[in-house]
Amino acid sequence: MSTLQFWKPGTSGPGSSLDRATETEENVVPSAPSSGAISIQSARERLPIFKHREKLLYCMEKYGVVILVGQTGSGKTTQLPQYLYEAGWAADGNIIACTQPRRVSATSVANRVATEVGTILGEEVGYTIRFEDVSDKQKTRILYLTDGMLFRETLVDPLLSRYSVIMIDEAHERSIYTDLILGLLKKIRRKRPSLRIIVSSATLDATGFRDYFCAGNSPDEATIVSLEGRMYPVEVAYLQEPTADYVRKAAETVWSIHMQQSAGDILVFLTGREEIERCLQELSEYLPTLPRNAPRLKVLALHAGLTTDEQLAVFEPADRGTRKVIISTNIAEASVTIEGIKFVVDSGFVKIRTYNPTSALSSLATVPVSLASATQRAGRAGRTSAGICYRLYPESALRSMPATTPPEITRTDLTTPILQLKSLGVDDLMKFEWVTGPPAEAVLRALENLVAAGMVGEDGRLTVVGEKVAECPVEVNIARMLFASKEYKCGEEMLTIAAMTAVQDVFVIPDGAAGALAELERRKFTAEEGDHLTLLNAYNAFARYGRAASWCKAHALSFRAMSRAVSIRAQLKKYMQRFGLPLESCQGDARRLRECLVSGYWRNGARWVADGTYRSVRGNVTLHVHPNSVLFTRKPRSGWVVFHEMEETKKTQIRILTEIEPDWLLKYGHSFRDKHTGVAVS
Ligand code: CDP
Ligand code: MG
Repeated sequence: MSTLQFWKPGTSGPGSSLDRATETEENVVPSAPSSGAISIQSARERLPIFKHREKLLYCMEKYGVVILVGQTGSGKTTQLPQYLYEAGWAADGNIIACTQPRRVSATSVANRVATEVGTILGEEVGYTIRFEDVSDKQKTRILYLTDGMLFRETLVDPLLSRYSVIMIDEAHERSIYTDLILGLLKKIRRKRPSLRIIVSSATLDATGFRDYFCAGNSPDEATIVSLEGRMYPVEVAYLQEPTADYVRKAAETVWSIHMQQSAGDILVFLTGREEIERCLQELSEYLPTLPRNAPRLKVLALHAGLTTDEQLAVFEPADRGTRKVIISTNIAEASVTIEGIKFVVDSGFVKIRTYNPTSALSSLATVPVSLASATQRAGRAGRTSAGICYRLYPESALRSMPATTPPEITRTDLTTPILQLKSLGVDDLMKFEWVTGPPAEAVLRALENLVAAGMVGEDGRLTVVGEKVAECPVEVNIARMLFASKEYKCGEEMLTIAAMTAVQDVFVIPDGAAGALAELERRKFTAEEGDHLTLLNAYNAFARYGRAASWCKAHALSFRAMSRAVSIRAQLKKYMQRFGLPLESCQGDARRLRECLVSGYWRNGARWVADGTYRSVRGNVTLHVHPNSVLFTRKPRSGWVVFHEMEETKKTQIRILTEIEPDWLLKYGHSFRDKHTGVAVS
């Protein structure tokens, strides 16, 4: 039946196929539905963290910082904030905050906790993510928020005075804002010792965090609490040969598990939405061959682009007689727990943001996971019973994997974070107590960018514009375009473009025949100048035709993305009004708009070359146009473009392009270039 070539160390030799292939159909029983009947309270008491409740509450009184280590699913995220709430830490109007590195975990966990507390989401329990605030100024006592939002809050409330306890969750991921907020919290604790901090991590690197908080403080500043978690054994199977297409292999593996293995749900790790959708597509081709008496298969996706309801669907137990398959990004590695997983299929890859300070290009790159991640992913199969993890790579690949993923602060563009730090009064970056210091070159580049953009003066201090931009909830480049729109008289359009580039997957273009039709629909919005204007056209049409879901469906647009753009636009509009930026329209003058785009994207210029690819202005990197771009098959008349973002998979792709005149780049880039040639800038 299956041609999969897996080899499980310790169970069977190389060359065997999946070794439970001998199981008869009777053995292939559907997964039993879980928990339905047990009360929420008893489910809470069965979590590993429950036994540690008193000890945790005691440590919270005694220590300033509690470092909490426990496996995924032990109850750290959902339970500890509730224990603190029950113990009175949210009395007198105080709030208990819990940060998440990702939007999707903040919303899903807040939802769960609201149910457990028995409140409507947005009242006692709420969440705040960028452009979306489901919390109540008076009522909310437990607040889940992204680490970026908490960091931003320090700009208006430097001592974070509304919080009694701040839990920095998923600290092992070492997202850039986790690192920055830890640095600030260490400072804040010296000024406001009543604030309590919890640093929670799914891996065992706790001593590093303790040493960090104790350095320069009393040794009693921080303590570690470990939750022992029960884990069932997980067998690991490897591919014999590397695969050229792990997405297809993942679908094939899911299918063989379904046909050959007994009950238990499957969790698949891929790197992003596009891969997940392709895998869903591949699996749907197998479905018609499912024998009539075989258990059903329910396939669900889990990634950041989903609505809250769609995300919550993955937590629902499947019906009797149905096996659940969840195809997820890295989010299911540690941030969310899904019950009933017995099989893990691991692509061995993850998408991370990387930054090359030399070319100053930032991109999303698909890279092999670290050993720590691979172990963590496999562990997802052993939470409720023994399980199996199928790794879609040969065992020999382990030798070249890094032990851990380097902290994001060492591999990201620091322009926006440094602007924000300066706005907080952290002018001397050398004196800041970093958990891990960023590379000097990346800091220098960021400072140069900020100087070139007029946000930091030659004295190293923020300029008036810099102060304002730091407050805007968008990246520096987008904020700069909003400010430049005053000069180009196109604030109205720039606002829309800023909102549309902040949402993902605006156009819904399926594969196959339906895709061709959708493509025709999209052409109705196409502007020959490029993607930014195409997005603008789509938004304007959406607004003109009543913002209806049915209209979106008929025009190959995602209603969800469009609605989000409307809400983001409304919020950014308030910032523009506050900063006195006029909302003028360019009245169809695309040239003004394109020039204004260059004010923000001047670092992202590229030149067309004869083979249809581009070369980056800085670094001369070969760039391929993303197939979704309206410039995918067409040479821009001037031969030059700016682009919104870059993504590295097998090749480096650029997304959201607009044609420009090359001399516009000089206008914005010159001070930067001068700095590099050593010529003084006026
Ligand atoms: O944070 P940690 O990984 O330690 O665990 P958690 O997220 O607090 O999850 C504890 C338990 O809550 C899990 O075992 C799940 O059973 C349940 N949970 C859920 O059912 N739905 C969610 N959205 C989140 C958690
Ligand atoms: Mg958690």
